[in-house]
Amino acid sequence: MNDNLFSLRGRPIVITGGLGQLGLQFTKTLLERGARVAIFDLEVEDDRIKTALGHRPSESELLTLSVDVTKRISIERALDQVRKHWYTPLGLVNNAALDSPPGAGAAENGPFENYPENSWDRVMEVNTKGVFLCSQVIGGAMAEAGRGSIVSIASIYGLVSPDQSLYEYRRQRGEEFYKPAAYAASKSALLNLTRYMATYWAPRGVRANTLTLGGVFNDQDEEFLERYHARVPLGRMAQPEDYNGALVFLLSDASSYMTGSNLIIDGGWTAW
Ligand SMILES: NC(=O)c1ccc[n+]([C@@H]2O[C@H](COP(=O)([O-])OP(=O)(O)OC[C@H]3O[C@@H](n4cnc5c(N)ncnc54)[C@H](O)[C@@H]3O)[C@@H](O)[C@H]2O)c1
Repeated sequence: MNDNLFSLRGRPIVITGGLGQLGLQFTKTLLERGARVAIFDLEVEDDRIKTALGHRPSESELLTLSVDVTKRISIERALDQVRKHWYTPLGLVNNAALDSPPGAGAAENGPFENYPENSWDRVMEVNTKGVFLCSQVIGGAMAEAGRGSIVSIASIYGLVSPDQSLYEYRRQRGEEFYKPAAYAASKSALLNLTRYMATYWAPRGVRANTLTLGGVFNDQDEEFLERYHARVPLGRMAQPEDYNGALVFLLSDASSYMTGSNLIIDGGWTAW
């Protein structure tokens, strides 16, 4: 096999939310493929990088920049930094997202009828507007340079409804627990934002795709895991590593004829 097909050697790639559970895994994978990675996250936490990678790569390989993806000026300043150190990015991974806003109250996971309006606004702001702004600024710069790949991280819950029966055991023990609506709506919005950007920028060499993921193991409780596993044809939750191949494929020349599309990696969740 010609491994150059999947090479990212020397390419500057921005990843938003790069200090999260999947973000750190994605960062590690991109570095291993030879990319230069710029993490855009709320706070610069080098300890998390050292723990995840085993060392702190030099600034020729990894930049960590404090960016709020909901603020255009913050994204523009960080892009200037990336260009100062390297050059215009060749890849953007829109990965930052909120499931529930930090510190959200009990109503957050309560019945749909009482889902708080401010939680809806915050989730849409980070998950949808954040992708719009980062794509506008960084995708725009890539279009000027005439090449690039945008990968926006979506979710099975942006394709199908959350299966609320997974949480029945919590309701039976007295908790009012429902997976909230805003996350699902925010992720499905990415599918058509992606198609828009793909057709808009196709003549200027920028591709845009979504990568739809299933749930990732993160020490969830046994009862949840049992129900989730039964719901997945492959019988398990994803490990963070399960998505590495798809991400490298979408950012590299291996996917050069793919744009406006959605790659689903979910253990078969959406197949039945
Ligand atoms: N973990 C899963 O089970 C799962 C399943 C499907 C899809 N996804 C998607 O994968 C992506 C990564 O998920 P994760 O589980 O690693 O999440 P995470 O919560 O571990 O990480 C999210 C990161 O985004 C950052 N972030 C939040 N708001 C931001 C802002 N305004 N500006 C900049 N950065 C901000 C956080 O600081 C954090 O580092 C998300 O898009 C998520 O929706 C995750």
